[in-house]
Amino acid sequence: SGSINVGELAEKLNKETNEIIKKLMFLGVMATKNQDLDTDAIELICGEYGVEVEQEIEIDKTDLATYIEEDDQKKLKERPPVVTIMGHVDHGKTTLLDSIRNTKVTEGEAGGITQHIGAYQVEANGKKVTFLDTPGHAAFTSMRSRGAQVTDIAILVVAADDGVMPQTIEAINHAKAAEVPIIVAVNKIDKEGANPDRVMQELTEHELIPEDWGGETIFVQLSALKGEGIDDLLEMILLVAEVEELKANPNRLANGTVIDAQLDKGRGSVASLLVQNGTLKVGDPIVVGNTFGRVRAMVNDLGKRVKSVGPSTPVEITGLNDVPLAGDRFVVFKDEKTARQIGEMRQQKELEVKRGDKAKVSLEDLFERI
Ligand code: GTP
Ligand code: MG
Repeated sequence: SGSINVGELAEKLNKETNEIIKKLMFLGVMATKNQDLDTDAIELICGEYGVEVEQEIEIDKTDLATYIEEDDQKKLKERPPVVTIMGHVDHGKTTLLDSIRNTKVTEGEAGGITQHIGAYQVEANGKKVTFLDTPGHAAFTSMRSRGAQVTDIAILVVAADDGVMPQTIEAINHAKAAEVPIIVAVNKIDKEGANPDRVMQELTEHELIPEDWGGETIFVQLSALKGEGIDDLLEMILLVAEVEELKANPNRLANGTVIDAQLDKGRGSVASLLVQNGTLKVGDPIVVGNTFGRVRAMVNDLGKRVKSVGPSTPVEITGLNDVPLAGDRFVVFKDEKTARQIGEMRQQKELEVKRGDKAKVSLEDLFERI
């Protein structure tokens, strides 16, 4: 926040880090790759490459955030929580995701062919919950590094026969950095040698203290394999969601984040989006990352064609003229002309940044990456 280091500046300018370090040395600044630079040093280096640093804060017309109007609080309505499952290798993340999906989705939606669109929704106690099924770490690292925050609640899966492991700690750190509440799922309690108490004990060292022990962290014991404890987990998720007061305005143009995207032989660019605010409709003019288009068709997580989807809903769309990246933001515009203009502006800027020549790099821009 508010600073940029040598390596990041090098990347932004499309130069080798060593080259920047040498230039800095020449200018009398001794710096290492991870060292933060002050404004003077940034300007000196950019000057060396003929790159203008714009200090004045001006409206960046290529920044999608510029086009998202703030909501009137009165228009906000409750929305489903978006949940990510994290944890150490083999502790049961995939089994848990499958188990939740199998026990819950089929109830009212029998016959639906499940699609892997990077996320799915289930219903519990009449309320919806959205699960991202991209590996939790990837969701956090790649998306957050692109400035996207998609998760409301993190489920930390810890196998009761294995305990806290390196990636457990990594997951805790990611969730804490993102300020996302953690629910601990102590998994594999059916296994011989399972020791849930030990897991709880070990997690106290990472400030995850069960309510029974005077802390604030919710622990749920389960067997993802046998489908035991799934209802408890969903109940706790809804409880945390209520405390978080998650809200959105369904009556506006949509915006959100790309969960996944690829090029399909028959359908062209296919992108899985998570609608975070507003309602996304077929026909909507849309800018997604550095690409744009009109939403041609939408398919939900059950493989069904849908015409419109509201907040916290994952959906797969076609109609974009290129393939965006996971973590890219999307914004719907009133008319196609505006979407095209902004999309083209963003493409142009991307090209300029890639070329690195004479590109105007604003300080705001530099800071945006951090
Ligand atoms: P990675 O994706 O490789 O990180 O693993 P994961 O966390 O997704 O674990 P996965 O769901 O693949 O489960 C790993 C192994 O543990 C599999 O053989 C599962 O069948 C088994 N397993 C998962 N949950 C349970 C459980 O509740 N009880 C028992 N006994 N085995 C489980
Ligand atoms: Mg897995």
